[in-house]
Amino acid sequence: MEADTEATETRSIERVAMIGAGTMGRQIAALVARSGRPVRLFDTAPEMLTAAPQRIREETLTQPGLDRYAHHRFRLEPPADVDAMIARIALADSLADAVVDADLVIEAAPEVLELKRDLFADLSLLAPAAILATNSSSMPSSLIASAVGDPGRLLNMHFFAPVWFRAMVELMSCGQTRPEVMASAEAFGASLGIVVAVVRGESKGFIINRVWRAVKREALRVVDEGHADPEDVDRLWMLFFGTPSGPFGIMDMVGLDVVADIETSYQQVATDPADKPSATLREMVRRGALGEKSGEGFYHHPNPEYSNPRWLAGEADEPNERGA
Ligand SMILES: NC(=O)c1ccc[n+]([C@@H]2O[C@H](COP(=O)([O-])OP(=O)(O)OC[C@H]3O[C@@H](n4cnc5c(N)ncnc54)[C@H](O)[C@@H]3O)[C@@H](O)[C@H]2O)c1
Repeated sequence: MEADTEATETRSIERVAMIGAGTMGRQIAALVARSGRPVRLFDTAPEMLTAAPQRIREETLTQPGLDRYAHHRFRLEPPADVDAMIARIALADSLADAVVDADLVIEAAPEVLELKRDLFADLSLLAPAAILATNSSSMPSSLIASAVGDPGRLLNMHFFAPVWFRAMVELMSCGQTRPEVMASAEAFGASLGIVVAVVRGESKGFIINRVWRAVKREALRVVDEGHADPEDVDRLWMLFFGTPSGPFGIMDMVGLDVVADIETSYQQVATDPADKPSATLREMVRRGALGEKSGEGFYHHPNPEYSNPRWLAGEADEPNERGA
């Protein structure tokens, strides 16, 4: 690895450590291994770690979500040789073992600030020269910077699930990230074959989650205020934008409890007094209508009403009239 001297230099990222073998850790590990690089994967839960290779194999071969993203004009092809990809992912015995020789460490542990700060304090010592990245979906890396000895090598690298279809990453500085570190991360992202977007300055929600949050907030507000029901919002959205689902359908996919938590985190820093918890959302979470995961949310699952072309045409309005 080159020393980080010149601001304009980039360092070659060849060896990657992936911390966390959950939903995102597995997918990012696969994405990196797909590019031909060796990955060392670590998780504090041994069962998550040992199950990872088989789960990566299944997820890569079956491509969950393919039906939803079939219309995408840009998506990643799974590797021709899935076994070779998985062989490049080594399971590490410890955090120290994971980061040995790593040029880049990507963290995808739970979305808990203190946990991440503790983890990065360890990484700062165990991997003194590596670029350190968090995959946090809501926390600016500036919140972690004081836990790292040299915050000049820390940044946000925000990947998306499913990686094969949402083939993109957002990069954001911690405010002190050195230009060569940003440039190296950018080159690394491009080398994975995905779209790289660099956030300028600091933005809660980075780029797309912030835009999506505004859509969610207004969609919920229109319903809370009684101007429309969720189905009309989605129907008009789908016709207007030509998408296979609308905001409420997507909220059902994410899980309404998760959506409510995310809404709360934005409301805590909101400057608009009208930015209040949605009564509609709160009531649905209270009665356990959480979306796809509970079988009922704004729609009934697994065949949500909006998947029926007659529903889109406004001819199948009954909530219980399922998709074709
Ligand atoms: N799920 C998504 O769609 C998504 C998308 C973008 C970003 N993210 C972010 O990625 C991160 C991980 O999310 P996820 O959905 O993969 O979570 P997850 O719960 O599926 O996985 C987290 C994993 O981290 C492990 N873990 C806990 N503490 C650890 C530690 N100290 N060291 C190593 N491993 C540890 C857990 O055992 C678990 O396997 C979060 O910050 C989340 O906000 C998630």
